[in-house]
Amino acid sequence: MPMINVILSGANGKMGKTVAGLLADMPEFSVCAGVDVYTAQYADFPIVEKPRQLPPGGDVIIDFSNPAALLDLMPYAMENKIPAVVCTTGLGNEHKSLLEAASKEIPVFFSANMSIGVSLLTELVQRATAVLGDGFDIEIIEKHHNRKLDAPSGTAMAIADAISEAAEGTKEYVYDRHSVRRPRGKQEIGIHAVRGGTIVGEHTVIFAGQDEVISVQHSAGSRDIFAVGAIRAAAFIKDKPAGMYAMRDLVAAID
Ligand SMILES: NC(=O)c1ccc[n+]([C@@H]2O[C@H](COP(=O)([O-])OP(=O)(O)OC[C@H]3O[C@@H](n4cnc5c(N)ncnc54)[C@H](O)[C@@H]3O)[C@@H](O)[C@H]2O)c1
Repeated sequence: MPMINVILSGANGKMGKTVAGLLADMPEFSVCAGVDVYTAQYADFPIVEKPRQLPPGGDVIIDFSNPAALLDLMPYAMENKIPAVVCTTGLGNEHKSLLEAASKEIPVFFSANMSIGVSLLTELVQRATAVLGDGFDIEIIEKHHNRKLDAPSGTAMAIADAISEAAEGTKEYVYDRHSVRRPRGKQEIGIHAVRGGTIVGEHTVIFAGQDEVISVQHSAGSRDIFAVGAIRAAAFIKDKPAGMYAMRDLVAAID
């Protein structure tokens, strides 16, 4: 099998370094270069500030950086026809449009959570929503470390969207019960963010009904699970046709 040359976007971040560390032990992959506003070099590949400074030869991009980075990264990926696995969260509409536009020309894999376990949790809560119906109140609680920038997490929002899809779009998201005094509405999904310490990532969905509560929970023990998912996604999309791909496509291919 030919070697897969990876470009790491956000190479100097916690996730970038985690991906680089795992790839160093995988002979079928090589990191050919990194991009980061912070260009300190810690391994045997160069790290440049802007995508246009990247050396040629990248086969696939793995991005764990910042939404702002996508403004240069996606045009670079399109111009050079390099598939991209985008794992950065907190994307606004302009970033999402950029990914959509790129997916017309190259494969783009996006998931707010690269863990296969979270993908399974999402399927389980969709099933629970369909089975339990309106008789149960749904709340999502997410917990992350005290340095996380965005809240609620991209994963919590993706879980809420999946529940909403299973409920045929009838749900209303409520983030703040502090400012409004009123009883909970039947169609609400309450979404709550907790920040503290070094928690890698925990997502709990509760279905609270009359005299019973069902909880579905995923806890990430280390960042490695996201890095492993991103690497599997990179191998998965490398030779795929242009389009948008997500975790469910990868999980379906594993099935
Ligand atoms: N999808 C997932 O499964 C998943 C999992 C973990 C983290 N994330 C997301 O990945 C992103 C990075 O996470 P992290 O924990 O590594 O954060 P981090 O802050 O440790 O790393 C981010 C890196 O991006 C760099 N950067 C910032 N702005 C940039 C720009 N404009 N151009 C190039 N580089 C830039 C920073 O210098 C830093 O090295 C976050 O959005 C986080 O929420 C996603």
